[in-house]
Amino acid sequence: MECLEWINDELKQVHDKNLFRYLTELQSGQSPEVVIDGKEYLLLASNSYLGLSVDPRVVQAASDALRKYGTGSGGSRLVSGSSDLHRELEEKIANFKNTESAILFSSGYLANIGTISSLVGPEDFIYSDELNHASIIDGSRLSKAKLRIYPHLDLEELDSLLTKDKQSGKKLVVTDTVFSMDGDLVDLQKLTKICEKHNAMLMVDEAHATGVLGERGSGATEHFNVENKVPIVMGTLSKAVGSLGGYIAGNRELIDYIRNRVRSYIFDTSLPAPSLAASIKSIEIISSEKEPREHLWKMIGMFKEGLEDLGYDVIASDSAIVPILTGDPEPTLRMAERLREEGVFTPAVRPPSVAPGKCRIRSSLMSSHTVQHIEKALSAFKNVR
Ligand SMILES: Cc1ncc(COP(=O)(O)O)c(C=O)c1O
Repeated sequence: MECLEWINDELKQVHDKNLFRYLTELQSGQSPEVVIDGKEYLLLASNSYLGLSVDPRVVQAASDALRKYGTGSGGSRLVSGSSDLHRELEEKIANFKNTESAILFSSGYLANIGTISSLVGPEDFIYSDELNHASIIDGSRLSKAKLRIYPHLDLEELDSLLTKDKQSGKKLVVTDTVFSMDGDLVDLQKLTKICEKHNAMLMVDEAHATGVLGERGSGATEHFNVENKVPIVMGTLSKAVGSLGGYIAGNRELIDYIRNRVRSYIFDTSLPAPSLAASIKSIEIISSEKEPREHLWKMIGMFKEGLEDLGYDVIASDSAIVPILTGDPEPTLRMAERLREEGVFTPAVRPPSVAPGKCRIRSSLMSSHTVQHIEKALSAFKNVR
């Protein structure tokens, strides 16, 4: 179609820069071994950090709910799509996150864009780490608030930006706790103190911390013992929880406000029963079983140490995300391809997911990985080196 011809030029540019995105189709679930084109590969690409998306107990819970409630929720929560499972999961999340209340969204992306854009407006300020997730960036843009981007993890600079802004207007500080592409962790002890000092609202995104950090696996707020000091806790059910959906946890007034104001909650069909039941079961497992998390951390240590011994430039991370810096798109793609030839599926990450020149192989580990899996991975990385 003539009116769409410009797309060919755009695509050519994307191709020329080695930035064209391809899908890798899996013919199996997120287990340590996955099937691609009929062949088995070691999976180092999943955010299902505790292997719960294929845990038989979670699958059983989803399947029971499927039989009882069917496939779809039938509407938005406020019209017709609210069930006892939605309420049960919200109570579970509030309990897990040690907050008064919680509210569900169909995804973490929707939780971020809707919540951020309803908490602040054009007269207000957002302070955002430069490596925050795209959903935080998009929510911030949607809010039309004045945006202050601070250098990655530079809390001194954040403090001075907050000090400089003397005009009236609400102040919202928003950050990933574990950063999705670097896997590193913000110091929430320091951050909560800074926000208290400036009376700024603090919103943290626990997408990659939940299930991985904290004694009960609740996330970074638990890890830093600041559960009662972070007013707005966002998370997703799509990573360690192994299901689908997002949430905000906080006090009752915040949750009532979101239920009344946030468009991505009000105008969106609610989560279906199998996803809800899976999340309920997963959260029970996460908070009652420490061993998988302890094993995960052992595997992370073994993998990182092995990569460093092989001379790889491993970004210092504090999570199940292990990024290996490769620089430009072309060598990154080539490395991911070579690893695939060695039987390992791990993704090449390129702009706009990361800054130009900061391409990487983003490996991620799961508690279902064994010592043999890590040895196989390291042997593949050795051959590719
Ligand atoms: C830090 C962070 N926040 C939010 C999201 C969005 O969550 P979801 O995938 O549930 O939409 C992601 C997902 O990639 C993420 O990494």
